[in-house]
Order: sequence, then C-alpha cells, then structure tokens
Amino acid sequence: MTQPNVHAVHRDWDRPFPIIVRTEGIFLYDADGREYIDGSGGSSVVTTIGHGVAEIAQAMYEQAQQFSFYPAHAFTNERFLELSDLVVSLAPGSLKDASRVWVTCTGTDATDDAVRLARQYWVERGRPSKYQIIGRWQGFHGNTISVAGFSGIVSRRRIFQPMYIDSPHIPPAFCYRCPFEKTYPECDLLCARALETTIRQQGPENVAAFIAEPVVGAALGVAPAPPGYFQRIREICDRNDVLFIADEVMTGWGRTGRLWGIDHWDTTPDIVATAKGMTAGYTPLAAIIARDSIWQVLQEHHSPFKAGHTLNANAVSCAGALAVIRYQQNHNLVENSRLRGEQVLAGLRRLMERHPIIGDARGLGLMFGLEFVRRRSTREPFPPVLGLSARIERSALKHGLVTYPCTGSLDGTLGDMTLMAPPLTISPSEVDQLLDLLDRAIADVEQELGQEIEA
Ligand SMILES: Cc1ncc(COP(=O)(O)O)c(C=O)c1O
Repeated sequence: MTQPNVHAVHRDWDRPFPIIVRTEGIFLYDADGREYIDGSGGSSVVTTIGHGVAEIAQAMYEQAQQFSFYPAHAFTNERFLELSDLVVSLAPGSLKDASRVWVTCTGTDATDDAVRLARQYWVERGRPSKYQIIGRWQGFHGNTISVAGFSGIVSRRRIFQPMYIDSPHIPPAFCYRCPFEKTYPECDLLCARALETTIRQQGPENVAAFIAEPVVGAALGVAPAPPGYFQRIREICDRNDVLFIADEVMTGWGRTGRLWGIDHWDTTPDIVATAKGMTAGYTPLAAIIARDSIWQVLQEHHSPFKAGHTLNANAVSCAGALAVIRYQQNHNLVENSRLRGEQVLAGLRRLMERHPIIGDARGLGLMFGLEFVRRRSTREPFPPVLGLSARIERSALKHGLVTYPCTGSLDGTLGDMTLMAPPLTISPSEVDQLLDLLDRAIADVEQELGQEIEA
C-alpha cells in the first residue's frame, strides 16, 4: 500500500497514508486503485466545485504562461483587480458593492488579517485602547499562535497555551448542549447576551472586535447558531462600538445553502474572512472583505494596511479563484447545496433510527455532522479512551468514504463528532451512496463496541 517514507512528515505517526493519484467530481482514487467519496470536502470543507474541473486548471495554466509572481509592493495584476470586483459584487448584506478586498494565502492569514484590520482601524480613528478580540469557546479560526489565542478549540490549545495572548472567550451557541442548560427560545439567546457582559467586563474602550463562525465547523462537528443569534450579536457590537468579524472560511461560497453562512441570519458583518471554497482547493488563496468605511479611515490617514505575505494576491491563484467562483455561479451550486442538504439531513435522521450511538444529526446545506453518545437519553459522551470519532473515521475510510473526525470537542478530552461537507456538485444518487457508506461504517463501529453502548 503506502510506501514508508522517512523524510515526509504526515499528520499522524500511527496510520498509513495512501497515495492519491487521481481525483474526479466527488471521488478520490489512490495508487492501489481504491475509490473514496470525498465526504469531508478535503481536510476539511474546501472542495466546493468538486475535483478535476479542467477549466480551472486551464485558467491557471494560461495565467502561469503569462506570469505568476510579480513584485507586489510596486505592481498589481489584472486577475487580482477582476477578482476584487467580482467578490465585492457578491459580498454579503450591505457589504455588496460597498466593500474592498485584501487577498492573502490561507484561512489563518485571513482571520489574522481581519483582526489586524480591526486594530489598525481603531488606532487610526484615535481610539488606541481598543485592542481586545473576543472569541468563542469551541471556535476555530486557524493554526498560528496568534490566531489560536482567540480561537477556542481546547484540544488544540493546550500545548501552546503559555504562548497565547490572553483573549476573552464567550460560550458557543450550541443548543444540543446549551452551556447555560436552557432551551431555545425561552433562553432569550443568553449565549448572545453573554457577549455584552464580557464587553462590559473588559471595558468597551478596550474591545476592538468580536469574531465568530456563523456555523461552527471543526470544533463542534457543525453547529449552526439558533435563529436571531447573529442579529443580537450585531446589536450588541453596534451598541458598544465593537466590530463584528464573520469567519466564513468554512461557511462561505454556498457551503450552507446560501452564498454566505451569515445570510441565514440576515446580518452584515463589518469584516468577512474567507478562504477554502473560494478556490475549492485548486490553489491556496484567502481574502478579507471589509466595509468601505473601515478602509477609508486607513486611507484618509495615509496608513497602508500593515499586513501581507510575500505570495499575497498571487496571479495564478487569483486566476484560479476567478474560475472557481464563475464555475460555481454557472452551475447553480448554492441551490444544489440547499437541496442536497435537505436530502442529507432527512437521510441522517433515518440513520439515527438505526444507530443508537448517534446522539444528534445537524447541519445547514452541505455542511453537516453527527455527534456520537454512549447513551442518547442523557447525551453522555463516550469515554475518550474509546477514540470513537477516530474509529468512525477509520471505518468509513475502509468503506471508501472520507469523513473528518472532531475529538475532544466538548472540553478538550470529551466529545466525539464527525464533520462532513462533500462537494456542492454532489447528485441525489451520490448522496444516497454517501449515506449508505456512512450507515455501514457506523454499523461496524457499533458491532465493535458491543456493550459499551447504552441505548
Ligand atoms: C472557520 C475556520 N477559520 C479559519 C481556518 C483556517 O484556515 P486554513 O487552514 O486555510 O489556514 C479554518 C480551517 O479549518 C476554519 O475552519
């Protein structure tokens, strides 16, 4: 199977990594000829338009033939200009046609740049005490030391904890395990109101921005906020002069059945971070979209945005992003995400009837997940020693389905979820095929576990 290779470091020491040799649509093929459905959309929630679309490679090839790299401190490139125009024309809410775009390399760069912009804006506006970024527990915004500080994914924070800047966090909007042990809607959105309490505790004069994913991805196996949540967040931010940053790195570009995740709440953020689906994995590229009025403050103060990497706005990546976004529009993929998402959710609920270890099935569009529990009636999680979500992932892979395991999601050790996000091109029969493989993978794990399950 996989050739041992002592020089390449992979993401795990204790498992084989089959070599991928070909991809097409929702399918991946390894060197031994095995076929897999890309059920998690890469690692993860990336492959919006599916694999192997020739016109994307062609667009990037044509640009690469002209040039790829250029001295970005002194020049610009046409693909970057075209891409910015297109993105602003598609931006959420009142950002549409009233925002500007900064292009960088990865989702982590985008969230880092989003908080940099928030800070620089307040400094230039003459309010330099505003520096704090409030995040949410179980939020994930990327993998640098700075970004991990305002992320709240405990299992990934522990080792590096002494190196973080101390950022305040509020509890997540997570109805299946409400942090306040309330029920929606009687809770009157305590989870959103917690933001105002935290801003007051920190002092609004110290808080620059609040950052949140419209639908929590990697940390909670997909958890959409309840109706009204982000409207309430917006009001609180406005009342306290705090910018609202929507991390749409996973949820953007149709993934949730609307073009932007935040569209489900009819709310406009001040700054949007986007990546993954913007190039569907064909090339690294990410961006922030921010209100004109924010950039104007920097412009009026002749204060260039103090961010940027050597490969920002790479011309080949911009050509790839343009081709991906156009493909997505021409093939109505946002609508397909909505329709197939409904099909998936109905299918997952049927799986719940057969599999007692599924405690919850949830999602929006083609971003969906399962939470596994030892006893459904009490929602008791499995003991971490059983490695439940890793077992599901391995079992699914054996059946030819790639899923993304979320482990330790509740408190750093407890909590087993599976995150899924197949390409938005998936057909009704391919959804059935995916659900069938998932069904078989879960059945095998249930059999393995035997009396560990308490129905
Ligand atoms: C919501 C969210 N923000 C940011 C990131 C970081 O993106 P990247 O891995 O491209 O740096 C991720 C990655 O999974 C993510 O899920």
